[in-house]
Amino acid sequence: MNTPQLDLNFVRSYFPALKSGFVYMDNAGGSQTLKPVVDRLSEYLLNYDVQHGASYEISRLAVEKVDYATNEMAKLINANDPKEIVMGHSSTMMFRILSLTISKNWEAGDEVITTNSEHESNCSPWMDLQERGIVVKIWKVNPDSLEFEIEDLKKLLSPKTKLVTMVHASNILGTINPIAEVAKVVHQGGALLCVDGVALAPHRLVDVQALDVDFYVFSCYKVYGPHCSLMYGKLHLLEALAGINHYFINEVPYKLQPGNRNFELTYSMAGLTDYLKEVHDHHYPNDTKIDDQEKFQKSFDLFTAHEELLANRFIDFLKTKKSITLLGVQSGDRKKRVPTIAFHHASLKSEAIVKQVDPHRIGIRFGDFYAKKLVQSLNLEAKGGPVRVSFVHYNTLEEVDRLIGVLDKFL
Ligand SMILES: Cc1ncc(COP(=O)(O)O)c(C=O)c1O
Repeated sequence: MNTPQLDLNFVRSYFPALKSGFVYMDNAGGSQTLKPVVDRLSEYLLNYDVQHGASYEISRLAVEKVDYATNEMAKLINANDPKEIVMGHSSTMMFRILSLTISKNWEAGDEVITTNSEHESNCSPWMDLQERGIVVKIWKVNPDSLEFEIEDLKKLLSPKTKLVTMVHASNILGTINPIAEVAKVVHQGGALLCVDGVALAPHRLVDVQALDVDFYVFSCYKVYGPHCSLMYGKLHLLEALAGINHYFINEVPYKLQPGNRNFELTYSMAGLTDYLKEVHDHHYPNDTKIDDQEKFQKSFDLFTAHEELLANRFIDFLKTKKSITLLGVQSGDRKKRVPTIAFHHASLKSEAIVKQVDPHRIGIRFGDFYAKKLVQSLNLEAKGGPVRVSFVHYNTLEEVDRLIGVLDKFL
C-alpha cells in the first residue's frame, strides 16, 4: 500500500493555537498542545480531582484514569510494564533524580561517560558527582562531521564505567545518534545506557525495547502535551535504585516520584495516544485490524515523511546562501536527522537575524539552547550561538516558504 501524504488540515485542526496564523518554528523549545490533551486535562480536573488511595468511588475512579494514561504511555514507548514509567516535573529533574539515586552505591573512581552534545540537564547532574570522586569522561563529536564515532566511545569505556548517558537527537543540530548500536557497545562493556530523548520524541516513535536502553527520558511539553516529563527504566533497574521519596515508600515508580506525580498532567497525556490513533484512522480508514502500537508507528511515519520535506525545503534554501553555514547533517535525510536546523551567518550576529524575522509573526530563536558545551566547541559564542529553526509535523511548506521569503530579503 502506498503511504498517503499527511493531511495537514486534519492534523492542524487538533492544535487550536495554530488558528491564530502565528508561525511556530521554535518547536524544539516547546510544541503546541493538542486539543485532546487539554480535553483530558479538564475532564480530570472537573471530575476526578481528589486524593488517590481512598476507598470512596471518585478516588478509585481517579486512580483508574491515571493508570489508564500510564498504560498508554507504556504502550507508546513499548515498555514491558507500566511500572517502568516514572512521571515527574521536567527532564532536568529526572536526570537529577537518576543521578542521585543510581550513584548511591558507586564508589570514588567509578566512571560515567556523557557527551559534549548534551543539553545541560543531562550533564550537570553527572558533573556534580565529581565532588564524590566519580570520574566523568566526555565523549566528543567528530569536529568535522559533528557526529559521534563509536570507536571513540570504546576508548573511553573501562571496567569502572557504570553508565553512559547521551542525547538521542541533538537539540541544536537535529542529528540522530545511533542509540541501538551504542547500547550494544555499552552493554558489552558491562555498563548501563541512559538516553535523553527530549529532542527526538516529538518526531519518532520511541521503542525502548528495540533500542535496548536502560533509561530513557523525554519532556511531554515538546511532544504536544503539558509541562511534565517521563522517564522509562527497565523494571529490575528501577527496583534496584535507592528511593528519593519518604522512607516508607519503596515501590516503583512511587519511590522515584517525590511529592507524587502530577495526576492531571499525567492523565492528559492519554490525549497524545488518542491523537495518534485518530491520525492513523483518518489516513488508513480501511486498516482496521491493527493494534495501537502499529497505529502509532504509521502515524509517526506520516509525520516523518512530511518533516523531511520541510527540512529539505529549508536546507536547500540555506545552501543557496554563501554567507550561511549550516551545522551538522547537510540534508533533510530522515535517517540522519530530525527537522531541527541550526545555522550561522558569516558577518551577521544570530540575534540580528532573529530580530528581523520577529515582526513577521514567525517564531524562531538563537542562543546556546543550554547545550553550552556544543556551542563552545563550535566557537559560536561570539555570534550569540546559532539561529535555530525547528519544525514539527504540523508546520506546512507554505510556512517554510514564508520564512524563506523573509530571510531571502536580507541574507
Ligand atoms: C535535548 C534536551 N534535553 C533536556 C531538556 C530539558 O528538558 P526540561 O525542560 O523538561 O527539563 C531539553 C529542553 O530544551 C532538551 O532540549
